Amino acid sequence: MNRYHAEILEEAIERFDRTLWKADLLLTALFRERHVGKRDRAIIGDLFFTYIRSRYLVERFIYEGMTRADAVARAHETTDAPSELLHSFPRMYYTAAEKRYGDGALTVLAWLNGRAPTTIRVNCRRAPRDEVKKQLAAESIRAVPTPVAPHGLIVVSGESQLTKTTLYEKGFFELQDDSSQISVSLVPADANALLDLCAGGGGKSLALAAERSHLAITASDIRVGRFAEIRRRAERAGTPITVLTPERLTGKQFDVVLVDAPCSGSGVLRRNPEDRWRIGEKELTDLRASQRDCLETAYRLTASGGAIVYLTCSYLPSENEEQVAAFCAAHPDLVLEKEPRMLTAPGGTADLMFGVVVRKHP
Ligand SMILES: C[S@@+](CC[C@H](N)C(=O)[O-])C[C@H]1O[C@@H](n2cnc3c(N)ncnc32)[C@H](O)[C@@H]1O
Repeated sequence: MNRYHAEILEEAIERFDRTLWKADLLLTALFRERHVGKRDRAIIGDLFFTYIRSRYLVERFIYEGMTRADAVARAHETTDAPSELLHSFPRMYYTAAEKRYGDGALTVLAWLNGRAPTTIRVNCRRAPRDEVKKQLAAESIRAVPTPVAPHGLIVVSGESQLTKTTLYEKGFFELQDDSSQISVSLVPADANALLDLCAGGGGKSLALAAERSHLAITASDIRVGRFAEIRRRAERAGTPITVLTPERLTGKQFDVVLVDAPCSGSGVLRRNPEDRWRIGEKELTDLRASQRDCLETAYRLTASGGAIVYLTCSYLPSENEEQVAAFCAAHPDLVLEKEPRMLTAPGGTADLMFGVVVRKHP
């Protein structure tokens, strides 16, 4: 790290602490503003994420007398500090990890502090996984099957070329983590009409549409600005998905409502490491209120005898089993069909995801 890197790094950290912006947005804006070149971006970005991942270690070095930039550089090279410093997480994340993983909590947090692989879901309507693997190899993109998801491939090299391939343009695959891929298997096999209430960019809807040709899928979200993206992706994949604004859902009933709820993202911290500093107790309280809102909406839109599938990419019990228990307690006609559980285990390639199915008894 030279003085130029140190200066931009200082600015990035100062802006992050002040605004708590998402790291990619913050760095992109800063780099553009300061005309930072490609190689320098990589160096500064790496150091910035060391600050995010090992913040308590950086603070220890500052306390011992180093400048912040020097402290980050030292933390970047440190491998043998106490785990709580090397893998820095606010208390809330420790407490929840201890609650769920007991003595394994520190190991889980160390894993969550690492990096996630790039994973794709092969569109099984277009071609089998092996065929897509072969065709990617012909374009110098090496991928291996994931042990978790039957249509998943972990991309080992050539990631940056993925979305530039003709295969991608023709809908042969989508970028999607293995845990998201397998989460849709919670949707009961006999479902005919499904609402994806919190569809975002449509990831879960697309995974379902590829596998279940008989299923009529409606996608919705309060962020209607993403509907164009859902439509575009559905068209590329050759799988029909109806998109409706929340107002247009009024009075409708579905066999299954999928709630891929807004959450802390504590299970995907390998992809968004800065979120641990952006989401604390207060934000969690707000998120839990949104989750409850989504569940209540899902309840109204589920036909008698139908099911609600509730998913989060979080390991925090307060967003998961505790949220579901409170919801079921308020609606005595709801019965657990599948026990609440983490769908993936820490330590592997897949992110952490929670899922449960409740049925509305007639
Ligand atoms: C975890 S993301 C969904 C990701 C998406 N299902 C996917 O697979 O790509 C949660 C989504 O819930 C939406 N949301 C939050 N509150 C909502 C509400 N009350 N009703 C509907 N959607 C809501 C957010 O806009 C966000 O897109």
